Amino acid sequence: MPIDPKDLIELIDAALAADYTRVRRMATGAARTLEKDGAVDAATELRALVRKRGVPLRASGYMESLPVDAKSRLPLVEEQPWPGNPLFLNEEAARTFQDFLGDVENIDKLSSKGLASRLALMLSGPPGTGKTLLAGHVAARLNRPFYVVRLDSVISSLLGDTAKNIRTVFDYVPSKNAVLFLDEMDAVAKLRDDRHELGELKRVVNTVIQGLDSLDEHAVVVGATNHPQLLDSAIWRRFPYKIELKTPETEVRADLWRYFLFEDKDDDARAEDLAVISDGLSGADIETVALTARRHALLDNRELDLGTVALAIMNTRAGRTSMPQKEPLESDQKRQLAIALKDKGELTVTNIARLLNVTRQSVYLYLKPEGDTSHG
Ligand SMILES: Nc1ncnc2c1ncn2[C@@H]1O[C@H](COP(=O)(O)OP(=O)(O)O)[C@@H](O)[C@H]1O
Ligand SMILES: [Mg+2]
Repeated sequence: MPIDPKDLIELIDAALAADYTRVRRMATGAARTLEKDGAVDAATELRALVRKRGVPLRASGYMESLPVDAKSRLPLVEEQPWPGNPLFLNEEAARTFQDFLGDVENIDKLSSKGLASRLALMLSGPPGTGKTLLAGHVAARLNRPFYVVRLDSVISSLLGDTAKNIRTVFDYVPSKNAVLFLDEMDAVAKLRDDRHELGELKRVVNTVIQGLDSLDEHAVVVGATNHPQLLDSAIWRRFPYKIELKTPETEVRADLWRYFLFEDKDDDARAEDLAVISDGLSGADIETVALTARRHALLDNRELDLGTVALAIMNTRAGRTSMPQKEPLESDQKRQLAIALKDKGELTVTNIARLLNVTRQSVYLYLKPEGDTSHG
């Protein structure tokens, strides 16, 4: 498609004026032209770009239109970009995720037979298990903007303004055909402390409920909480779809190691060894440990040292959140790690040798009781 110089000039003009609405409109038009010309991939890429990048609301002065807290002037809702990383889920969670998307896409059909339920999905689970990531993937898959509301910030505003803030959020978002993500939903329940009277808590809970009830049937809401047991049952009932994100199982951990540490190259065996020993780590833990190890390897110009990764995993499991050390493991550290890994009983000597990058012979030597110098 040859670019019309007039379009090019207008595009640059719009970009320099930070007129994102005009840029978006032109990009959407260009995507349509590309598609007509058979450049389907380019059209798709352009559309994705508009969605992903077209969100510097603050920079564009668009901010004015975002609802803000009366006192702090902080936005109550923020549009966030779609996630760039894949999401790894166990089968059960993946099924609910797909079901939810399917129901959203077929809401009119469901509704015509009286089968529609509220398009509200509640995510629960400990920090770092991918709740925010999953919500972002819902928006991306539905091709809708991702609006994030942190209930804790909505609430920690001027006493009495809380209910007003919540109402503002629910009034603002439906018109945007967005995915509304209500993060930290248990913040509402935490008002149940001595600084607030019970009446205020009730009022806030009711405002959230009224807000949810006021949405039209096409509205998509995702909620998240780290403390499902704190959440008011009346709120809970308004989320017919539920996914509990536990710390990941072995297979999901293997996916996470493969992606974050081995960049999806085929290092399956070692990713599986790491998965076996990293029970209890969240997706976020695995990401941080993996990226730290890769950073060390890159800056020191050496191969990944999986011994440092295994050591960080064992420390994290013991409750001391720990990053891989910068230097490759020394022989004595390898010995201690080999003993710890063997004690856990999760890996064979062959697996341990592979992780520590030593021979099986050496592992046997490490495992020998101190002072025992006999062979065999
Ligand atoms: N199941 C998962 N699949 C892929 N990445 C994950 C997963 N869980 C966590 N992560 C990584 O950890 C980061 C933090 O997770 P996040 O979604 O913020 O967790 P939460 O909202 O539950 O606290 C994510 O951005 C992602 O990089
Ligand atoms: Mg989160």
